Amino acid sequence: MLFPDYRPRRLRKNESFRALIRETHLTPAQLIYPVFVMPGKNKREQISSMPGVYRLSVDQLAKEGKECLKLGINSVILFGLPEKKDPMGSGAHVKDGIIQRAIRELKNRVPELLVFTDVCLCEYTSHGHCGIILENQVDNDATLDVLARTAVSHAAAGADMVAPSDMMDGRVGEIRAALDENNFDTIPIMSYAVKYASAFYGPFRDAADCAPQEGDRRGYQMDPANALEAIREATLDVEEGADILMVKPAVAYLDIISRLRDEFDLPIAAYHVSGEYAMIKAAAANGWIDEERVMAETLLSIRRAGAEIILTYFAKDMARLLQD
Ligand code: PBG
Repeated sequence: MLFPDYRPRRLRKNESFRALIRETHLTPAQLIYPVFVMPGKNKREQISSMPGVYRLSVDQLAKEGKECLKLGINSVILFGLPEKKDPMGSGAHVKDGIIQRAIRELKNRVPELLVFTDVCLCEYTSHGHCGIILENQVDNDATLDVLARTAVSHAAAGADMVAPSDMMDGRVGEIRAALDENNFDTIPIMSYAVKYASAFYGPFRDAADCAPQEGDRRGYQMDPANALEAIREATLDVEEGADILMVKPAVAYLDIISRLRDEFDLPIAAYHVSGEYAMIKAAAANGWIDEERVMAETLLSIRRAGAEIILTYFAKDMARLLQD
């Protein structure tokens, strides 16, 4: 049926009609809020390239967690700034590491909140790479054991899910096996299955102080030109036991989210990363765009592309908007 017999505008007449035929919905329960944890007491430092996002000391976490729950956000993902870094990234898996303390604090004080952790070494290595360096290379297999120990230490501290973001080959299988051996077979893995070597991580590297001292991450993160490789990476992670597949960044990779949604039956998560957040904040601060509307439209587009779950620094702002 064509115009004038068919008129799409009939169903756009007012908000009730629009709500009736709306295809995509966004709820706070679908959002994961990233939280940066720093040493010290009573610390709340704003990250200059990410207005509205703070590094918090452990004692500040419960307040933040309760605020999330109140807004309907049930989950956070933690990133840590350790006291000390070393070439082996050993701060990542010590019992009293920054993340292990943060998990215990949140699970003690806000038990209903789901606490997820990023499993990677870049915040803990003195060289800033996501793995162990041997003979001037980020050595894949030497890194696997450290990642597995890190994941187990997070689970032992009470983490509800671990999310490996290092992009070493075989890490999901290694982490799954280590969790199972240590009686953590009920702890799921959200794999950063498709993580691109992206310039959109810039502000995060300031926030978490984890830029590589030398070189870049293109030897382990994916080439932005590749889509078929995303299917291969995701297939491997499914075989190795991933429970949720993540695509990162989100907006420049909506096609990848959509491809994964079609090809796999696991839940898909997308990480709306620091640079994507910072661009919206910067344009809004200049009065060039309407921050709330651009935020809502952007997060909706990620859902529409096929992600059930969104990790975003806008989680609290979006939840507040949904509440009004
Ligand atoms: C750790 C990690 C990074 C991000 C999440 N986990 C940085 C990186 O890979 O360089 C980026 C998140 C963001 O930009 O918001 N490997």
